[in-house]
Amino acid sequence: MHSATVSLDPAFVVGPVRRRTFGSFVEHLGRCVYTGIHDPGHPTADADGFRGDVIELTRELGVSTVRYPGGNFVSGYRWEDAVGPVEQRPRRLDLAWHTMEPNLVGVDEFMRWTAKAGVEPMMAVNLGTRGVQEALDLLEYCNVPAGSYWADQRRANGAEDPYKIKMWCLGNEMDGPWQIGHKTAQEYGRLAAETARAMRMIDQGLELVVCGSSSSAMPTFGEWEHTVLTEAYEHVDHISAHAYYWEEDGDLASFLASVVDMDHFVESVAATADAVRAAGKHTKRIHISFDEWNVWYQKRAESRPPSGDDWPVAPVLLEDRYNVADAVLVGNMLISLLRNTDRVHAASLAQLVNVIAPIMTEPGGRIWKQTIFHPFALTARHAAGEVLRLAVDSPVHETAKFGEVAVLDAVATYDAESGDVVLFAVNRSLTEQVVLDVDLRGFPGMRVAQALTLSNPDHTWHATADDDTSVLPQPNTSAKVADDRVRAELPPVSWSMLRLEKE
Ligand code: AHR
Repeated sequence: MHSATVSLDPAFVVGPVRRRTFGSFVEHLGRCVYTGIHDPGHPTADADGFRGDVIELTRELGVSTVRYPGGNFVSGYRWEDAVGPVEQRPRRLDLAWHTMEPNLVGVDEFMRWTAKAGVEPMMAVNLGTRGVQEALDLLEYCNVPAGSYWADQRRANGAEDPYKIKMWCLGNEMDGPWQIGHKTAQEYGRLAAETARAMRMIDQGLELVVCGSSSSAMPTFGEWEHTVLTEAYEHVDHISAHAYYWEEDGDLASFLASVVDMDHFVESVAATADAVRAAGKHTKRIHISFDEWNVWYQKRAESRPPSGDDWPVAPVLLEDRYNVADAVLVGNMLISLLRNTDRVHAASLAQLVNVIAPIMTEPGGRIWKQTIFHPFALTARHAAGEVLRLAVDSPVHETAKFGEVAVLDAVATYDAESGDVVLFAVNRSLTEQVVLDVDLRGFPGMRVAQALTLSNPDHTWHATADDDTSVLPQPNTSAKVADDRVRAELPPVSWSMLRLEKE
């Protein structure tokens, strides 16, 4: 058994809890769009063909923003193909995932879906095969009220009012050799700067995200951010970061410690952005949009696109099945994103439905929740107010990838309006329970309002369409307040939430 302590104080604030931390991602990839959000034959489908049950679970998940339409897909995308009468839309080869894109869903359908799901859109432009002009055309189509060619096309297609999309991604993963139209940092930095500058000539209120690194393991990591920001600093607001982790060779301890890399990623990108700021004598700060993050078993067969002459529509791709340990890491990644709220101003769980996703659907059939749904939904629902800077005293254990790592990781939020303090914590030990003491002298007179723990002696358990309820976060009955502290027992390989309220 291990013991750990956490001390918190209302005066030690990192920054606000940002709703945009709880974003997600819908890409034209596999079954995310077709038979995912869009399935006209489904009993819950509406007049647009959108599944009502998916919209319901998207709301329950607490998603704020949704990035669209890619991902690697966007780097070969012609957005004009997918507006206007559906029967006249061309079918196109999608080179990124070697599939056939039927263009049944495009920007107008997606915008109708975001309104129904109550989420903010985050639109990506193609800077792989295309450039400044096509980005401007899409922006004009979306945000200009009326009187110009593309604005009037939108109106003719049924959308009288402009969409007023605020967040725009300037391409996707342009540092990756797998990307269609992959560029050097210098080439991309110039293109991103010119695209951003021109986009602001149409709409000054945009928030623009320039591509950072596809992972901290990229050989160009650091140098890429430095070069791109040196070109584009004044024209953009955020730089992206992407991170996927997976358990390799049965090394669960290293996998559960992956947030060491995520924290390092944020710290390095923030330091690089600040160095460019100083060198360029800029005054504003660049923030991070962590707009792809999740567990993703990239080496599994379903992660490889089809090949040859077969160009299927919406094949099964990247349909990872998540176990309890994966959910613990997803909970820990949210802890990291919240802890870094001073620099991470937006994030997107990749993705939303079927493709490395918390929500799964059967074509025309059932819907079910993966294990990772639960830490996300609970964190999105209960993190509120300010993120607190914690003093954590935890035992450490050895991991092959990251050396000595704290067994307990945690973050807390304090909502001055409701008076609630919420602690999110993971126990990364594979074998030992952690008895956690939270010092509440800064918050006298609190009681436990809710204590939930997600764990299972079999951490490889994963949900299926037949059973997605056997392993849900359960009430943690050990959580008790006494003498200005709350004590709770956290089982090995677990994620927990402790919500405290004023007595
Ligand atoms: O989310 C799956 C893929 O991961 C995205 O298309 C790409 O941007 C990243 O490599």
